[in-house]
Amino acid sequence: MRILGIESSCDETGIAIYDDEKGLLAHQLYSQVKVHADYGGVVPELASRDHVRKTLPLIDAAFAQAGCGPEDLDGIAYTAGPGLVGALLVGTSIGRSLAYGWDIPAVAVHHMEGHLLAPMLEENTPEFPFIALLVSGGHTMMVKVAGIGQYEVLGESVDDAAGEAFDKTAKLLGLDYPGGPRLAKMAEQGVAKRFVFPRPMTDKPGLDFSFSGLKTAASITIRENDDDDQTKADIAHAFQTAVIDTLVIKCKRALKQTGIKRLVIAGGVSANTQLRLQLERVMKGMKGEVFYPRTEFCTDNGAMIAYAGMQRLKVGQFATLDMKTKPRWPIDSLEPI
Ligand code: KG4
Ligand code: ZN
Repeated sequence: MRILGIESSCDETGIAIYDDEKGLLAHQLYSQVKVHADYGGVVPELASRDHVRKTLPLIDAAFAQAGCGPEDLDGIAYTAGPGLVGALLVGTSIGRSLAYGWDIPAVAVHHMEGHLLAPMLEENTPEFPFIALLVSGGHTMMVKVAGIGQYEVLGESVDDAAGEAFDKTAKLLGLDYPGGPRLAKMAEQGVAKRFVFPRPMTDKPGLDFSFSGLKTAASITIRENDDDDQTKADIAHAFQTAVIDTLVIKCKRALKQTGIKRLVIAGGVSANTQLRLQLERVMKGMKGEVFYPRTEFCTDNGAMIAYAGMQRLKVGQFATLDMKTKPRWPIDSLEPI
């Protein structure tokens, strides 16, 4: 079976064609970074308009790359939520309409399920059950995954998401949007322990996260110190270390609590090299294993939507004809497969 995947929940238009026997046949990505850079963050209306411009040309490019056409498809998957409502509406209306026109089923995909299943596109895939740490720009969640669609949320952020905290702190350090990867790069030049930030919510039991206090601590430190490059790098280092330590402590806790030894990290922040290194070290010590997508599939992309859509297409979980988006959509409300 073959499916077209459409991702348009935020500032990336991602299109992919996935075949359940041959694997990924095409993957096209257009990032709106330049559109939003002047504003220091995503402007929802500009995002929607750019998705309108880019989606159909990218679908054509994906067909050309895969060497197939609409007649070879068995379904279309689109991101229905969570995300920016206007941006979601573009992918939803294009995906739903093409499926109607081509007389094939459509599948409404949950963006975070896409992230969660992205490691399944790699060679070495995790068996169920596993623990998933989902760290993106909009969400931070610890999930116990018993199977596809069987998600128990063990903890989540009570305020900013990890990626959001990275982006906001990067902005305070004078870095351009999107700041997360830029802050990570700056941190490489930083001196360890010149500044030390708190590890929020690690002294209390539980698996929830909070990152807004960390951003405030960074903001105060930035204000009270010189703004030379070395100081900025040292602050970036302290911030990144605090976020990663916090995530690592919570992962260890979740694994211990559930007795599971397989960990998946996914979402934009899972591209962070230091986070990967630390979690690899922890899992080695536990004789467990950590799984993550290749870097380009950590951040938003169409391949993860096509993969997640395929799983639901195979069992007949089709979208209805209405073009419904779900800007808020709890992951534990999904149907099991
Ligand atoms: O998953 P994603 O592409 O979009 C959402 O679903 O939100 O995640 C984007 C987030 C941004 O906040 C970005 O700064 C962050 O992931 N990010 C990183 C890195 N690469 C992307 N944060 C820290 N280190 C990185 N290397
Ligand atoms: Zn995402």
